[in-house]
Amino acid sequence: MISIFTNILLATATPVDNGNFWLPRAASTTAGGVDLTFNVITWICYFFFALIVGLMVVFCIKYRRKSPDMVCAGPTHNTALELTWTIIPLLLVVVIFTVGMRGYLNLREAPEGCYEVQVTGQKWSWTFDHPEYGATQVAELTVPVGKPVRLLMTSNDVLHSVWIPDFRVKMDVIPGRYTSLWFEATAVGEYALNCTEYCGKDHSKMLATVHVIPADEFAATMTKLANEYEDMSVGQLPAYAINRLYNRCASCHSLDGSLSTGPTFKGLWDRVKSGQVKFTNGESLSGLIGDATEYGEPENYIRESLLNPQKHIVQGYLGSMPSFQGQLKEKQITAIIEMFKHLRDVTDANGNITVNPDGTPTE
Ligand code: CUA
Repeated sequence: MISIFTNILLATATPVDNGNFWLPRAASTTAGGVDLTFNVITWICYFFFALIVGLMVVFCIKYRRKSPDMVCAGPTHNTALELTWTIIPLLLVVVIFTVGMRGYLNLREAPEGCYEVQVTGQKWSWTFDHPEYGATQVAELTVPVGKPVRLLMTSNDVLHSVWIPDFRVKMDVIPGRYTSLWFEATAVGEYALNCTEYCGKDHSKMLATVHVIPADEFAATMTKLANEYEDMSVGQLPAYAINRLYNRCASCHSLDGSLSTGPTFKGLWDRVKSGQVKFTNGESLSGLIGDATEYGEPENYIRESLLNPQKHIVQGYLGSMPSFQGQLKEKQITAIIEMFKHLRDVTDANGNITVNPDGTPTE
């Protein structure tokens, strides 16, 4: 109990840079306004809690009924007192409104010349497009420190919501329209980005990491990211795909064989190659691959599953996969197929990724 109270005291006494009992660390230029509003309201609450409970105890003792035949005249009104308890709260809400409105306007008014990122929410992953560099990130967002960044956001399916607690920003992501938010990160580091609108079964896995990097490294990092796979040989693609593309599959497709919203990727290539896949319409993949069949090569079936996932739905699954048409470049599709073929080289038996994007082993 005592430790809770010390935490409360420390929380409001120290600057909020490293987070405290109430709030996570503050790492954006607008966080101060949000925290100020929060702290003002919290301190008003502390003050009136102490005042009201204190007076209540004092009055209980002082004005308690001392004998059975003690009769009270009953309270009448007191103009001075009533004016006081009307005017003071009125002033307080004016203060709260002013402090809160200033913080809110700072949050809503993006400054001129923001670096723009287009964000797409889709069950259950985040895609971040950097139009300036032609780079796309999934479940990872790299931004420069000390530069205002504007996220222009939309959804491919249902309502989602972007929330970066350390930046104190949050905005709904809505299908069929655009919403935006902006922030300017004040410290290099990694920050959590969550989906904060319940969007279905794997809502809780719809996470991303915001990497805030030094501004002078930003252009080089994004240029490298944009062209990374283009210079790779086919042999290098599985390591690239498991690190850069699998993020988008991870909430539904496991690497360790466990059941999820979609079939596990473990052993997927063997199942496809041998045609041992049954579909909900009773068909079997073995009838669709091989000479003079619909797909010919098994690789075409995987390609079709990425671009037109509703065409065949594997038995036991609901077919909730979205299409990746237009979202993957040809070489990225090849990279995913190569990843399936060489999954054992890039993951261990427990489904952990064992290589870096450049193919070097992870620690
Ligand atoms: Cu997306 Cu919750």
